[in-house]
Amino acid sequence: MKNILITGGAGFIGSHVALELLESGYNVVVYDNLVNSSKESLKRVEELTDKSIKFYEGDCLDEDYLLEVLKNEEIEAVIHCAALKAVGESVKKPLMYYHNNITGTLSLLSAMDKANVKNIIFSSSATVYGKPKSVPITEDFPKGECTNPYGWTKSMMEQIMTDLYTSDNSWKVVLLRYFNPIGAHKSGRIGEDPKGIPNNLLPYVTQVAIGKLPYLHVYGNDYDTKDGTGVRDYIHVVDLAKGHVKAIDNLSKLNGVEVINLATGKGYSVLDIINTFEKVNGIKINYKIEARRDGDIAQSYADATKAKELIGWVAQNGLEKMLEDSWRWQKNNPNGYEQ
Ligand code: UD1
Repeated sequence: MKNILITGGAGFIGSHVALELLESGYNVVVYDNLVNSSKESLKRVEELTDKSIKFYEGDCLDEDYLLEVLKNEEIEAVIHCAALKAVGESVKKPLMYYHNNITGTLSLLSAMDKANVKNIIFSSSATVYGKPKSVPITEDFPKGECTNPYGWTKSMMEQIMTDLYTSDNSWKVVLLRYFNPIGAHKSGRIGEDPKGIPNNLLPYVTQVAIGKLPYLHVYGNDYDTKDGTGVRDYIHVVDLAKGHVKAIDNLSKLNGVEVINLATGKGYSVLDIINTFEKVNGIKINYKIEARRDGDIAQSYADATKAKELIGWVAQNGLEKMLEDSWRWQKNNPNGYEQ
């Protein structure tokens, strides 16, 4: 059985990846500093799977500790999810973002190099495409201009891993470019638990639905899209997590640096999200149309063919299921993991 280390494994994406890896027979080791995540998520993953997770509370900036963990746990591959990810905060605190995300990744890669663990799956983002020249977006589209430091850190981290492979071909690097992960595990036991006012659409919608926030601000209805609101490729977080398992399953077949979009290939507008959420959950979402948000693009959706051909992965869940599962999580956990 293979031992997989997940940095940031207690977070929204990481906890779902941990669960899917355990279900597929892998051993999971989580390394997380808990600044934006909760150990409770891992306890619940253990309950749901009836399997245990080895947990280390540590920071990616701590290279010595990472090296110790990589060696002691005989890790075969690392899934690197740990990062700061709030777009607005990154604009206000660029040095913190560059230091944490970039220096943290350098320290992780250096520890991996020393431990001779040279397989890395990276949590990247569609944000690296910047403003795409057209949609759907394929992996061979050029990377673009990011609109904020968070986005640039993702773009730079990809570049660092690519350069590392160029210097030493014994590395395997998989850059998973996530589109817009939403939803939650069907049990309603694990999900997204943002600190403070949410930045992303879905947690905002669910907090309006539960009455924590009065109404949703819809950022612009004058985009060149079917109804004027922004269009995105929303993907169920469980499908996204399964994409990581497929990448690990197929590592021996992969060579060099592979870029893979994790997406459904379908674009939905903000109004589609509101209307579908209301329909499937029977709850009214109050909203107001407001000005565009700085840095937003009109539409972003992917061509997800490469993931199917290369690692045999296709997203299974549609929008209705994503929105039902997002709501189940919020309803059952009004205060997230803090009870
Ligand atoms: C955002 C980030 C992106 C990051 C991704 C991670 C920005 C500009 N981009 O992507 O860099 O990789 O999250 O999850 O923040 N919307 C509203 N009201 C809201 C929130 C969002 O109308 O309160 C709209 C947005 O204008 C957009 C859509 O909903 O059209 C999705 O927004 P969001 O969930 O923030 O994701 P992205 O902007 O795609």
